[in-house]
Amino acid sequence: MKAKKPSQSLTILTDLVLPGETNPLDSLFGGELLARMDRACSIAAQRHSQSIVVTASVNHVAFNKAVPVGSVVTIQAKVSRAFRTSMEVYIDVWTECLKTGDKEKVNEGIYTFVAVDEHGTPKLVPPIQPETPLEKERFEAALRRKQLSLVLSGRMNPKEATELKKLFD
Ligand SMILES: CC(C)(COP(=O)(O)OP(=O)(O)OC[C@H]1O[C@@H](n2cnc3c(N)ncnc32)[C@H](O)[C@@H]1OP(=O)(O)O)[C@@H](O)C(=O)NCCC(=O)NCCS
Repeated sequence: MKAKKPSQSLTILTDLVLPGETNPLDSLFGGELLARMDRACSIAAQRHSQSIVVTASVNHVAFNKAVPVGSVVTIQAKVSRAFRTSMEVYIDVWTECLKTGDKEKVNEGIYTFVAVDEHGTPKLVPPIQPETPLEKERFEAALRRKQLSLVLSGRMNPKEATELKKLFD
């Protein structure tokens, strides 16, 4: 399969925060943001694999700043690394002040998707070739994150997690 670039999977979702999507502090409800991130990631993973995909894992989410009601929120998702049948998708979340045009990064997340056939059986995905320094950095670290996720979900023996072990050498 021919390698693809992360930019080919780039997915950008921009939407408002409405009152029905907030917590008692009038900020975006975490579960609502997770759902929006999942949708953006799912499209990015489908763009890369040109296949049906399922969410295998939410590896990491950092809610660094509250997002007040009325905010304009942009979610940017890109496949950061493709493995055999799975893909890591990296999400950056921004808010935007429409008066000034200023943008602020508020959250980020990392999801794992698996390409599947119509029976739900995992299928191969194209490799990925990172281009920018940030894409290369995220690509390099992705195997470590995959191993951590597999260890935490009981799918990998910690003794086999070579990339994790390197952190402590
Ligand atoms: C994800 C799923 C397809 C994996 O199927 P499986 O039969 O266990 O297949 P495998 O063990 O071959 O795993 C497939 C790939 O997923 C990866 N994977 C599975 N669980 C993972 C996890 N928790 N973290 C990271 N990667 C994971 C495997 O490492 C493998 O990657 P690779 O082929 O790129 O090396 C299956 O568990 C599933 O369908 N889960 C439900 C998905 C779903 O419904 N999501 C919606 C949320 S409710």
